[in-house]
Order: sequence, then structure tokens, then C-alpha cells
Amino acid sequence: MSTTSTTARLLPGGPVAEQVLVEVAEGVAALRAAGVTPALATVLVGDDEASAGYIRIKQRQAAELGFASPHVRLPGSASQADLHAVVADLNADRGVHGVVVQHPVPGGLDYDRALQVLDPEKDVDGMHPVNVGRLALGLPGPVPCTPAGVEALLAFHGVPVAGREVVVLGRGATLGRPLALLLAQKRPTANAAVTVVHTGVPDWPRYTRRAEILVAAAGVPGIVRPDHVRPGAVVVGGGVRYAGRRLLPDVDPSCGRVAGAITPRVGGVGPVTVAMLFRNAVRAAARSAEVDQEGSVVGDGGQRGLHGGDRW
Ligand SMILES: NC(=O)c1ccc[n+]([C@@H]2O[C@H](COP(=O)([O-])OP(=O)(O)OC[C@H]3O[C@@H](n4cnc5c(N)ncnc54)[C@H](OP(=O)(O)O)[C@@H]3O)[C@@H](O)[C@H]2O)c1
Repeated sequence: MSTTSTTARLLPGGPVAEQVLVEVAEGVAALRAAGVTPALATVLVGDDEASAGYIRIKQRQAAELGFASPHVRLPGSASQADLHAVVADLNADRGVHGVVVQHPVPGGLDYDRALQVLDPEKDVDGMHPVNVGRLALGLPGPVPCTPAGVEALLAFHGVPVAGREVVVLGRGATLGRPLALLLAQKRPTANAAVTVVHTGVPDWPRYTRRAEILVAAAGVPGIVRPDHVRPGAVVVGGGVRYAGRRLLPDVDPSCGRVAGAITPRVGGVGPVTVAMLFRNAVRAAARSAEVDQEGSVVGDGGQRGLHGGDRW
């Protein structure tokens, strides 16, 4: 992988995340003032060190933001029924507003089935089929965190999206597929002509070369090279793979010589993704409190859905 210096404008995610977290902190303060402590629960199955590390990061950030963060750890030997029972308990707990089941779960367990047991209103990852359906229909709901982060990052840095040609490399459930749905929605920060390419399109560079905005969402290190990028295009690196602690991005850094703007190798989409999790969590708490207390808690406070103004 080349380390050539970039001539493109950098699009860091840190300032975007900070702005989102200010909104989250305001939401938390409003809830606490009304006697509600927002709670984001985490569930970890097994001993995977990387997963345990992600959970620790979420818990630390939760504490800093004023969330309660109850945690359930199941042994790697847990059954699918054990996992479903934990999720059902968290569904029933009115003091818990959001739930993250850390992915991946150990082999032998089915993450997607566990997700289907989760109350869609507590699905702060936005991955429950009901929420993916809401996204597809343009209805208010929690939007998957990484796609929401990409949209926010582009908006924050003043990159126009509406009416432009966006190509997404990858159609995975976490990033490519929901991002394509999101950026095609009729809203000022979306409203794009979106094309999705994948392994079924062997000559995908034909599409990426004409993209005004190219989003890499494949998880294949270095797959996007300078000759895949239209000169002056905006390049967003979403896909990454880890080799131990080393982060290997989809976008070869030498793309920065061709692109007009590009996310940095580290500190691009990642920090915004985490911020979006907490935005979904505070909205879930506000929504639950509002339902419980007949609308007495929440002012506007950033509780509007991404989909056009309806409150989620
Ligand atoms: N930055 C962040 O904060 C963040 C957060 C979450 C996820 N991610 C990253 O986002 C990436 C995507 O995750 P995901 O779960 O949405 O996707 P995924 O399930 O890993 O799927 C990858 C997609 O890339 C396509 N692809 C893989 N190799 C390709 C190739 N050689 N040519 C063309 N297309 C290829 C696949 O095509 P087929 O469908 O044809 O197989 C598939 O659609 C991962 O790297 C993940 O680590 C990043």
C-alpha cells in the first residue's frame, strides 16, 4: 500500500462527532432534568478481546455522556435460547432504552435471529428488520450508525450530495446497503443518484470512475486505487479490516493525489459512527420517556428523525 502524500482536502470525522455529541449531551441533560437517566445496555457473548474492547469504549463514552450502561456478559458456551432470554429481559426492562448486542457472536449462535428478538424501539444499531424496513420506506426510525455517520460527515464538511452521482462499493447490511437507501432519500443532505456495485459487477471501476462521491464499503484493504477515482471526486473510506490492532482501509492512501476531498486513513467515518450510536440511544430514551409521560419531557432537542421532520 502506498503512503504517498495527499493533495486532497481532508474530511476528518472528529469535529463531526463532537458536534453530534453536543446534541446528545443536551438530550441527556433534558432527560435527567425530567428525572430520566438514559440507559444503553450492552450484551457480549464469549471472550473475544476485540469485542470486549469495543464494549469498553462504548461504556466509557456512555459514562462521560451521563448514560447508565448496564452490561450483560454471557459465556461463549451460551445457547441461542440464553441469548434470546437476555434480550427479552432487556426488552422488558423499562429502565433500559437502548440495547447493543455486540457483533460478532461466537460461531454456533445466530446474530440475526437474536436481533429479531430485540424490541425495534431499543435497536440503537438500527439493524432490526423493522428499522431497515422503515429506512427503505423513508419512515422515522433509528438509522444504522455508519451510514448515518457518512451522511453527517458529508453535510458537516459542506459536500453537496443532492443531485450528484454517488457510487457505493459494497452492499453489506452494515454499510453499503443502508447507505444507498439513505442517500437516495428525498432530503437536502441526501437526494442523490446512487449506484451500488459489488462482486456481481466485475467491471465496477467503470462506475466508480464516474462517481462524484465514492464510498468504499467493501472491507477489502486497498481495493480502491487512484485509477478507480474520478479526478476531483470526494472519496469516503468506510470499509476497513483489522490485522491485530492495525487498521487496513479499503481506500489506498494514494487516492488522495486524485481525489478533491478524502477521509483520513484514521479518524474518518469511525468516530462519527460511535457518536451516531449515542444519538440513536438518546432519541430512544426521549421517545420512551415521551410515551411514558405523555409528551411532558422532550422539547425539540434534536429528537427529529432523519427522514423529513417526523419525530422518532
Ligand atoms: N468505519 C466504521 O466505523 C465501520 C463501521 C461498520 C462497518 N465498517 C466496515 O464496513 C465494511 C462493510 O461492512 P458490511 O457489513 O456492510 O459489508 P460486508 O457484509 O462485509 O460486505 C462487503 C461488501 O463488499 C463487496 N465486496 C467485497 N469484495 C469485493 C470485491 N473484490 N469487488 C467488489 N465488491 C466487493 C461484497 O460484495 P458481494 O455482496 O457481492 O459479496 C459485499 O457487498 C467492513 O469493512 C466493515 O468493517 C466500518
